[in-house]
Amino acid sequence: MRDALGAVGSVLVLGGSSEIGAAIAGELARPRSAVVILAGRDDSRMGAAAETVRAVGAGRVETMAFDADDPGSHEQVMADAAGRAGQDIDVVVIAFGLLGDQCADEAGGPGAVRLATTNYVGAVSAGLAAARLLKKQGHGAIVALSSVAGERVRRANFIYGSSKAGMDGFFQGLGDSMAGTGVHVMVVRPGFVRTKMTEGLPDAPMATTPDAVARATVKGLQNGRQMVWVPAQLRLVFAVFRHLPRPIWRRVPA
Ligand SMILES: NC(=O)c1ccc[n+]([C@@H]2O[C@H](COP(=O)([O-])OP(=O)(O)OC[C@H]3O[C@@H](n4cnc5c(N)ncnc54)[C@H](OP(=O)(O)O)[C@@H]3O)[C@@H](O)[C@H]2O)c1
Repeated sequence: MRDALGAVGSVLVLGGSSEIGAAIAGELARPRSAVVILAGRDDSRMGAAAETVRAVGAGRVETMAFDADDPGSHEQVMADAAGRAGQDIDVVVIAFGLLGDQCADEAGGPGAVRLATTNYVGAVSAGLAAARLLKKQGHGAIVALSSVAGERVRRANFIYGSSKAGMDGFFQGLGDSMAGTGVHVMVVRPGFVRTKMTEGLPDAPMATTPDAVARATVKGLQNGRQMVWVPAQLRLVFAVFRHLPRPIWRRVPA
């Protein structure tokens, strides 16, 4: 439960080995040494994330199994996470996602459908399960890691971009549906963030770090924001990009 200063007592990260997810959990947990539950597929990668979160001052940190591609398990995952936390869950971070390989996935194979399943179907299922738990508690926040790639989908990465556009719209609608329930939903739209997801790729303009995303996320929650861009200037950039004619927009590189 949040204290009088708004500091959280517990955080659940779905996609528990995400570098951005771990940075957000650490930033949220630090003031009160909050409990952090990291839920994901791979124990050793979550172990590394758990170390990061502990190092910045979280209290108890636990890991548990979660697969975004198994929607049938999500209700139980939420119940188990609440049990492990031993208290209400204050913040659920939807941090899982795949970037994919646009060229290879366009050419064929299962990659495009796998990406859409994880990034969109998984987010819908896990988002609804999280919302139901928080609504039952009567309080809590969901942080959904979207992307500027979903604001206007580009030819160069339209498989990933469209999955983020879909999940972004879903979480905006979910937030509206939670009005008056005590549950707050905040969509975070980072630009290029240096993590293992983008390893080996050249920095895009205004590239940023997981820590910067975490600070902006915590500030956004404190201010009751429904949408956060990181860095904030990207909002203005995309206000222009949104109106570029398609023949120009389709030539914007990845
Ligand atoms: N990095 C960027 O530039 C950037 C920019 C904008 C938005 N984002 C979004 O921010 C979120 C976090 O990304 P990140 O940069 O922190 O990348 P990351 O470190 O690669 O984290 C992505 C996480 O998703 C998990 N995941 C993938 N499929 C899953 C599944 N089926 N079930 C459960 N977990 C699954 C991965 O777990 P495993 O360890 O099991 O593979 C990994 O921990 C993603 O949604 C991403 O799209 C990233």
